[in-house]
Amino acid sequence: MAAVLAVFRLPQVVCIRHLAHFSRTIHITRNSKIKQNYINNIQTRLSFHHSISNKNIKEKRKMVNLQYPDARRDEKVADNYHGTEVKDPYRWLEDPDSDETRAFVDAQNVVTNSFLTSCKYRQDIHNRLKQLWDFPKYSCPRKHGDKYYFYMNTGLQNQSVYYVQDTLEDEPRVFFDPNTLSEDGTVAITSSQFSEDGSIFAYGLSSSGTDWSTIHFINAKTGEKYPEVLEQVKFSPLTWTHDNKGVFYGGYPDQAGKTDGSETSGNRNHKLRYHRVGTPQSEDILVVDFPEEPLWRIGAVVSDCGKYLIVLPMKDCRDNLVYFTKLEGVDIRGKLPLTQVVSKLEADHDYVTNDGTKAIFMTNKNASNFKLIAIDLEDYAEEKWVELLPEHPYNVLDWAAAVDGDKFVACYMLDVKNVLQLHCLKTGQLLRTFPLDVGTIIGFSGDKKYSEIFYHFTSFLTPGIIYTMDLKKDKEPKILREIKVKDFDPNLYKTVQIFYESKDGTKIPMFIVMKANAVFDGSMPALLYGYGGFNVSQQPTFSVTRLVFVQHFNGVLAIANIRGGGEYGEKWHNAGRLFNKQKSYDDFQAAAEYLIEKKYTTSSKLTIQGGSNGGLLVTTCMNQRPDLFGAIISQCGLSDMLRFHKFTVGYAWVSDYGSSDDPKHFENIMKYSSLHNVKVPENGGQYPATLLTTADHDDRVVALHSLKLIATLQHKLGQLPNQTNPLLVRVETKAGHGAGKPTAKLIEESTDILCFIAQSLKLEFKST
Ligand SMILES: *[C@@H]1O[C@H](CO)[C@@H](O)[C@H](O)[C@H]1NC(C)=O
Ligand SMILES: *[C@@H]1O[C@H](CO)[C@@H](O)[C@H](O)[C@H]1NC(C)=O
Ligand SMILES: *[C@@H]1O[C@H](CO)[C@@H](O)[C@H](O)[C@H]1NC(C)=O
Ligand SMILES: *[C@@H]1O[C@H](CO)[C@@H](O)[C@H](O)[C@H]1NC(C)=O
Repeated sequence: MAAVLAVFRLPQVVCIRHLAHFSRTIHITRNSKIKQNYINNIQTRLSFHHSISNKNIKEKRKMVNLQYPDARRDEKVADNYHGTEVKDPYRWLEDPDSDETRAFVDAQNVVTNSFLTSCKYRQDIHNRLKQLWDFPKYSCPRKHGDKYYFYMNTGLQNQSVYYVQDTLEDEPRVFFDPNTLSEDGTVAITSSQFSEDGSIFAYGLSSSGTDWSTIHFINAKTGEKYPEVLEQVKFSPLTWTHDNKGVFYGGYPDQAGKTDGSETSGNRNHKLRYHRVGTPQSEDILVVDFPEEPLWRIGAVVSDCGKYLIVLPMKDCRDNLVYFTKLEGVDIRGKLPLTQVVSKLEADHDYVTNDGTKAIFMTNKNASNFKLIAIDLEDYAEEKWVELLPEHPYNVLDWAAAVDGDKFVACYMLDVKNVLQLHCLKTGQLLRTFPLDVGTIIGFSGDKKYSEIFYHFTSFLTPGIIYTMDLKKDKEPKILREIKVKDFDPNLYKTVQIFYESKDGTKIPMFIVMKANAVFDGSMPALLYGYGGFNVSQQPTFSVTRLVFVQHFNGVLAIANIRGGGEYGEKWHNAGRLFNKQKSYDDFQAAAEYLIEKKYTTSSKLTIQGGSNGGLLVTTCMNQRPDLFGAIISQCGLSDMLRFHKFTVGYAWVSDYGSSDDPKHFENIMKYSSLHNVKVPENGGQYPATLLTTADHDDRVVALHSLKLIATLQHKLGQLPNQTNPLLVRVETKAGHGAGKPTAKLIEESTDILCFIAQSLKLEFKST
């Protein structure tokens, strides 16, 4: 739930952040009876084979039916990149709707499913996951009008329910329950915003995990729905004018063809529109567009004072421009006149709040660790910008939020752990620090209008504590809610943070979670997770799936904070992007070597896992060091780095990868693109057991990346006698990149992943 409930006002995040670290991930459902029967047949056959034991590996492989489907290779398809010809024999898999692709997907799912269901611990794993998952999850309460609102999930509900309370002590009432929107929980709230006075609730819904959404409105007092539904919404801000009459929102009104997330077409010509509540969408007013810049996405936020609309266009996954327009006394009837404040795409500028005409931005301009600056909108020339909170020499400013009239809360990252502080909005002066354990703030609520703040803390062994403090009345924060998980004793485990040396000598932080009585003889299985891109930091969070791995397989969980992430600010990101991309891969491989050298584990018991950009990370490491890992789990990963920018919003990732259109980048990308670097290992070795996961409505990283890669792996390696490790793909239906995924699907997916690891590495599930 955490990620969905994040309350920070960032320009729309379209980067390929994967949500696995919030224990939200992916899985497989089937919707056709015929298919179902086919799968059942195979399963029967399998359970029969399963009862025969004492066979050698090769025979076992036959038994679990690792007969990969034949995939047609079209050797004629090739592209010429700056004089180099590169074949693309599985180009046909780029069409998600062709009969041939559908048949390929079905056939792959049959093989995968038969492998996964033959795991004899399947029921144990599923039961334990379900049991441990079943604890209440809360978001921070947030005040709108004279009421408090918060999300709560009793434990196994597919979607969290939105509750309302008159005071924090009163009995909460259900305000909005997304579980009523679909039988299978695949409709999720993906954005929401109350009007300034709290009278109208605007919310965005997404089906099956797509990035597309629809916006709806409810009268908060009566619960009555407004008739209009806004369509073609994607990468949208949602921000109210302070007269409570309407919202600014964004989307691609011109996009033709399917727009349900199962298409792969590129998104072009983002537009910002104004909608007056109670009127049909056809009357919406186009307020901002940039027709000469079809790839820009338009972020926007109405200032805290309501007098300005701040417009924040972005092209890639970093750097944005800043414009503003005055709203005071303006009757919105057409395009708004924009004043440009930042005219070069060279740094990030996030709006935080304003103090009169001074707008406060968080920026990394000449500040790798981020800082706050004040820009007077009446006098905005760059020479006049003032530093409000200078860059900290070591700690990275993660976010800042205005509270209690003249203050702001700043959240820093210090060696990947959060530090929370209160500052004066006029001077930037530090007023106090909030006590915090080693871990992560995953939710915050507070407002300039109120003196009360709430923050939500979590860590590897702490499921969640919500603190509150009235800055006017209280001396210290107090605990509003502390989550306890049934049948889970944190004292049986321990977490350490170590700093290992990468190939070039750089020290890389890594968290390691294990049993308190762990024995370092190389016998423990390990799960190493990483991301390493897009300035995304991997901070400690509570994950049921990972704890089941640690508890029941006597496992070691390791999170490597490799370069490319934001753990040490923009410099850490830059150190692992574009021509430095290989550094991320080096760091990750060095993490594996560290775990082996220190006898946490051995190669044959080591699984690496990553999603999205992290999916590319693990498949690249697999190509580069097939001998180093026992298994790899790549969730909705990229693999075709020559063509990623041609689909949906892929072009936005050029800021991390570069593009094959550029000869220098082409050369660099070719060195690691996982689709193009699959090769038979030397010395008769084999590839690790491989599970790729993807989904039919993933319009962030489209499924073709996983489909083309699995076809290539199976073609090049699948027939080799020494390749006894499975090479599988799991293609889920009615699911996307991970956001909004219903609990039932999350548990299914986690079950499959743990089964895959147990089955591939021959691990034993121990019930205690
Ligand atoms: C969640 O959805 C699944 C179908 O995806 C359904 O079987 C299950 O009953 C739902 N769970 C709850 C608690 O409603
Ligand atoms: C950049 O920051 C450094 C140190 O914080 C400062 O000395 C320098 O003047 C700044 N440069 C610009 C152009 O602001
Ligand atoms: C990059 O990461 C830092 C640290 O978490 C954060 O403050 C900043 O907002 C991030 N930038 C973007 C564009 O997400
Ligand atoms: C298979 O592996 C063995 C060693 O495990 C090796 O001797 C043999 O050459 C390999 N076969 C092939 C075809 O590479």
